[in-house]
Amino acid sequence: MTHRDNSNHTPFLKWAGGKRWLVECHPNIFPPFSGKYIEPFLGGGSVFFHLTPDRAVLSDSNAELIDTYLAIKNGWQKVLEILQHHAKKHSDAYYYTVRSSRPKSLAEKAARFIYLNRTCFNGIYRVNRKGQFNVPRGTRNSVIFETDDFEGLSKLLKKAELKACDFEEMIDGASAGDLIFADPPYTVRHNNNSFIKYNEKLFSWNDQVRLSNCLKRAAQRGALIIATNAHHQSIIELYWDGFQLQSIFRKSLISANKKFRGNYEELLIVGNV
Ligand SMILES: C[S@@+](CC[C@H](N)C(=O)[O-])C[C@H]1O[C@@H](n2cnc3c(N)ncnc32)[C@H](O)[C@@H]1O
Repeated sequence: MTHRDNSNHTPFLKWAGGKRWLVECHPNIFPPFSGKYIEPFLGGGSVFFHLTPDRAVLSDSNAELIDTYLAIKNGWQKVLEILQHHAKKHSDAYYYTVRSSRPKSLAEKAARFIYLNRTCFNGIYRVNRKGQFNVPRGTRNSVIFETDDFEGLSKLLKKAELKACDFEEMIDGASAGDLIFADPPYTVRHNNNSFIKYNEKLFSWNDQVRLSNCLKRAAQRGALIIATNAHHQSIIELYWDGFQLQSIFRKSLISANKKFRGNYEELLIVGNV
């Protein structure tokens, strides 16, 4: 069941491939459901914050990201206090000091993660081979946003189970009546040169095949499925049997060059809805 409270839960992270545009342009594509909400590629959680479900299972393979959600869920006050400290000290040099720090407590780790996300180049998350965050400083200077409501986020996250793991484990746990929203990195076949690198590991074509197979199994058990992906023939071939496929359009206004502004086509994959 979705629980629509009146608070406005704005995602607190900028995330590559984030789906804020999806909930803004297509808010009604998510069906009512009787079980739990499952989001196995959580990232910035735009859809979770839009739906505010009563029962949720949220996961991502990025353990630092999941730790940040856990810190807000279980101790948002401490996270905010440290983030306010980072905001006061923020400068070029301070950014690199925080970037090379390795804090021990969950609250310090989360405040560091949010601070770097908000001040690094384009909100990108990228780590080197040793797993160390290596994105340079960006141009934005706001560390605390007017929209921040960590207390509200914490209340909402209390209704969610959080886990750092691979998507297959989560999707295999879905049963009849659950809603799965799956938003993987958009890798396509024969595209190994322009791969998408989120963590140390790539999301390979084999992962796309594995995803489509476990979504099929979940659909056969009666779970409701909404997934997004690249509008590409190789992806269409993975899902044409057993799912409804639709084109959805993402408006992009961000390119500085007029030629690149406009509608981008993506694929919506729907099962049992
Ligand atoms: C497109 S982003 C999700 C964006 C999210 N829907 C939002 O609105 O911000 C894809 C996410 O998948 C995660 N990911 C990559 N490989 C994964 C895997 N094998 N299992 C689970 N999550 C994975 C990445 O860490 C990234 O956060």
